[in-house]
Amino acid sequence: MTPVDRATVEAVAARLTAAGVPTPAVDARWLVEHVVEVAGSCTGCGAALLDGLVARRAAREPLQLVLGRSWFRELELLVAPGVFVPRPETEIVAGVAIDEARGLDAPIVAEPCTGTGAIALSVAVEVPGARVVATDLDAAAVDLARDNLGRVLAGDAGPPLVADQVEVLPGDLLEPLAPKLRGRLDVLVSNPPYLPAADRGSWEPEVGDHDPDRALVGGVDGHEVVDRLLALAVDWLRPGGLVVLEIDDRRGADARTAASAVGLTDVALVHDLTGAERAVVARRRQERPPTSGHPTRG
Ligand SMILES: C[S@@+](CC[C@H](N)C(=O)[O-])C[C@H]1O[C@@H](n2cnc3c(N)ncnc32)[C@H](O)[C@@H]1O
Repeated sequence: MTPVDRATVEAVAARLTAAGVPTPAVDARWLVEHVVEVAGSCTGCGAALLDGLVARRAAREPLQLVLGRSWFRELELLVAPGVFVPRPETEIVAGVAIDEARGLDAPIVAEPCTGTGAIALSVAVEVPGARVVATDLDAAAVDLARDNLGRVLAGDAGPPLVADQVEVLPGDLLEPLAPKLRGRLDVLVSNPPYLPAADRGSWEPEVGDHDPDRALVGGVDGHEVVDRLLALAVDWLRPGGLVVLEIDDRRGADARTAASAVGLTDVALVHDLTGAERAVVARRRQERPPTSGHPTRG
């Protein structure tokens, strides 16, 4: 960690506490370290920079947006206003997809709803030989994910990547994928919008004022995009392929029921580090071997 002046960190933490920031001490440390890294110290022009950044955080702008970056598994990613900021709990969701893909030879992975590209890029850097196709409906997210892909390819964001391993395409869920991939995906992983419309207005300012509504709300009841992805999984996974979807931790039972209802098998819930039901996983049914033509007597 960068050495920082304790009194400066404490003064910043006091300002953030007064503004109602939920984690003032940790955020103060990040802000002071950032200024020391960028300006050399928190005096002179460093003091003016720090003052501006603290004012933004005190106005409840997310820390990652104030710093302009976010850390996700092994990557340092760019973040930008108007694009969903990746969350630590999603690292577990990405991890399930990565564990599955690692056991396969040259796996094909799709990640609709990519935002910054955090999940897609993590799969690509952690699973050598994986081919990953990411999509997003939002042009700003596609641009940012492509910027992050460029940084990873240049070796500026973490472990290196092979060119052509990742594609980021604009469009709705799996619509932009080449038709020849239908029935051939090994893994379909996504953190889709999954909150109900009725939750609007109840979020902390960091969420409600900064994450785009399209990234948060999954239709009136919240489950619209999850349901669509589960239905697509039946069509686009190869037999035995795995779907991994982040879900609203209040909707685990609904997600299980929805996955079984479309004919997926091995349905299970994955818990995050707080014990919350964070993802639903399921497999496309294996095709049955052809019957011999001699019906058995029952
Ligand atoms: C909750 S954010 C997740 C972003 C990123 N995967 C992450 O975990 O940090 C959901 C993303 O889905 C995108 N999105 C919403 N509806 C979509 C759709 N029908 N097709 C593709 N992307 C969609 C939003 O623009 C947003 O970037």
